[in-house]
Amino acid sequence: MDPTAIGVIGLGTMGIGIVQVFASAGYQVLATDSQAPACASANHRLAAALASRVQAGKLTETDSIAILSRVRVVDGPARMAPVALAIEAVVEDLPVKRAIFSALERVIAPDSILASNTSSLPIAQMAEGLACPGRLVGLHFFNPAPAMKLVELVAHADTAPWVLPQVRALMKPVGKTLIDCPDRPGFIVNRCARPFYGEALALLEEGRSAAAMDAAMLAAGYRLGPFSLIDLVGADINLAATEGLNRAMGGHPRYHVFAALRAQAASGNLGRKTGKGFVFPDQPGSPPGD
Ligand code: NAI
Repeated sequence: MDPTAIGVIGLGTMGIGIVQVFASAGYQVLATDSQAPACASANHRLAAALASRVQAGKLTETDSIAILSRVRVVDGPARMAPVALAIEAVVEDLPVKRAIFSALERVIAPDSILASNTSSLPIAQMAEGLACPGRLVGLHFFNPAPAMKLVELVAHADTAPWVLPQVRALMKPVGKTLIDCPDRPGFIVNRCARPFYGEALALLEEGRSAAAMDAAMLAAGYRLGPFSLIDLVGADINLAATEGLNRAMGGHPRYHVFAALRAQAASGNLGRKTGKGFVFPDQPGSPPGD
């Protein structure tokens, strides 16, 4: 096992940001995605993100080149044997995530750690069926991962005692704020955020305008309005997280899945990643942390 190597599986909105985070902290990053276009564009997307930091005077050109040189796109989890930590950021789907972890545990060293960036799926359920369930944790980054300080760290009932100190040590150079969270659906932030989205969606269904609600919440001091936040997260991801919480909480009305959110996800206008959302691009807002 190479303590300087990290694996990232899934190179969408979150995965590419997580690659940037670890490569910027000095790690060698092995990155992969099941979709060829996501792999093919990964270096270009990372370079574009770094270039905007260089342009803003937040990064030197030399550092940007060094960060890029530390990232290697590989052909699937089977190529991740050396990593000390493998983190998945693929679709919010339990069987898909489980399949990735069982592929990973066949190749990585016994003292390497598996982590999920899930927003809402219980870590214990993800660990079921693994040969070594004790080395799986939740490591929940926020969007955009390079800018957001918080990472929720989630142990489950059978997490092995050596795992958390090792994760904390690996995360130290990354400089994020790690908060221990219970292995409960939505952990802390996504659970607390549900009423924020829910009330806004209820008002939308009552005929209020999304743009007006965002403007009101911004003027009230929030960094982003609820619809700009859904556009940033992705309506599909937000829907999956809400459905996951709703299921896990036995359909409790606090986690109601609003028809307006379902319709938005079904429309394909998912937000920033598709170029159109509830309010994006008319009301772009600025991502938190930037
Ligand atoms: P996304 O839809 O932007 O990207 C998912 C990526 O995973 C895609 O590139 C897809 O090709 C890839 N993928 C799907 N199945 C795969 C497989 N079997 N093997 C390898 N790659 C595969 O999704 P996003 O937004 O990056 O979310 C990823 C995870 O992060 C989800 O679990 C989500 O709940 C979580 N998350 C999302 C946040 C957000 O704001 N979007 C914030 C924090 C966590």
